[in-house]
Amino acid sequence: MSRPLRVLLGVTGGIAAYKSAEIVRRLRGRGHAVRCALTRSATSFVAPLTLEVLSGQAVLQEEYLEAAGSGVEVHIEAAAWAEVLCIAPATAHTLGRLALGLADDFLTTTALAFTGPVVTAPAMHSAMWSHPAVRENVETLRRRGVRFAGPIEGPLASGEVGMGRMADPEAIAAAVEAAVLPGPLTGRTVLVTAGPTFEPVDPVRFLGNRSSGKMGFALAAEAVRRGARVVLVAGPVHLGTPPGVERIDVRTALDMKAAVESVAPAADLVLMAAAVADFRPLHPAATKIKREHGVPFLELEANPDVLAGLRAVAPRAVLVGFAAETGDLGVHGPAKLERKKVDFLVANDVSRKDIAFDSDANEVTVFRRTGEPVFFPRQQKEALAGGLLDLFGGMLPS
Ligand code: CTP
Repeated sequence: MSRPLRVLLGVTGGIAAYKSAEIVRRLRGRGHAVRCALTRSATSFVAPLTLEVLSGQAVLQEEYLEAAGSGVEVHIEAAAWAEVLCIAPATAHTLGRLALGLADDFLTTTALAFTGPVVTAPAMHSAMWSHPAVRENVETLRRRGVRFAGPIEGPLASGEVGMGRMADPEAIAAAVEAAVLPGPLTGRTVLVTAGPTFEPVDPVRFLGNRSSGKMGFALAAEAVRRGARVVLVAGPVHLGTPPGVERIDVRTALDMKAAVESVAPAADLVLMAAAVADFRPLHPAATKIKREHGVPFLELEANPDVLAGLRAVAPRAVLVGFAAETGDLGVHGPAKLERKKVDFLVANDVSRKDIAFDSDANEVTVFRRTGEPVFFPRQQKEALAGGLLDLFGGMLPS
């Protein structure tokens, strides 16, 4: 149970606005004070009176504010009152307005005047969510520290199933609390590895794999947002460093092992999301292998298993492995959990086209030492990072 918070809930005009009533109930049920601000179009989807009764506070809406006259700076007052601003549902239009810093109604003027944490719960059709304009707006907001609860995949208002459904009210209420209150990751050291390793064959060629690094980078960004010191050991990837993350770039599995083992003794949580190459050429050529010398014979040798050796290096850390499998998660997951001596093993099925390499979304099953496996349905890697850190954070000794 957290301390009581003052939450300003902005509701914008999408069909999911009807669920805002449930968000108010969940927040009040957790002991928080809630004031609701509705955009003009939100009032077509949910009655202000509903939210007024549930929140026990007058609802802020355009018509009332216009009637109050321009001298009344209600947005400044509301921004000063709130400890956290939650916008749920957040339409594509509102995300765009927030990203641009527009101030054309009560909610957006309040958002500009507000200096605390902002949580948004986007809801829209999957085609809109994946539009480049929306993607860029989301990125801009994320860079500015805005948090996202969802969206998740599920039935949409159109009758189709896709990415864009608003997160569950309970998850939104939890994200609101996590935005303000110290959580299990606050002040901890989190070590994340991401991306592939490249094992040199000659000065221009290497053995590599298709890991994009996106999952590890999303975990690093989310852990920083939760107040952790984050060291990210990154293989060769084309991704920008999330703000606040300390990054160490490596290329080979041996480089990665050295970097990981230098940081791991200080780590509370180790997330090995990197796809470490299991083998490397035994004798990489010093000069480029030339075609006229015929087809080369490549002799390989085993790389060390970085993760399996970590328990000795970081005895008190919670250790998490990641396994990209092609089917049979229920067999490989528990076996790998044992073999790697980790606390959690996050398994996904890369034979599925919708969550294959380089995808922005993922669906995983987390195997653990104690308790049943936990299934995370297909969702954006950023949202999944939040869910995974909730699970791992719960294992950290207090
Ligand atoms: N891993 C590691 N060092 C290696 C290989 C893997 O630290 N040399 C880590 C990965 O970062 C990941 C976990 O172990 O967190 C599982 O990786 P995976 O490649 O699935 O494990 P393998 O033991 O290589 O199993 P497989 O035979 O299925 O490739």
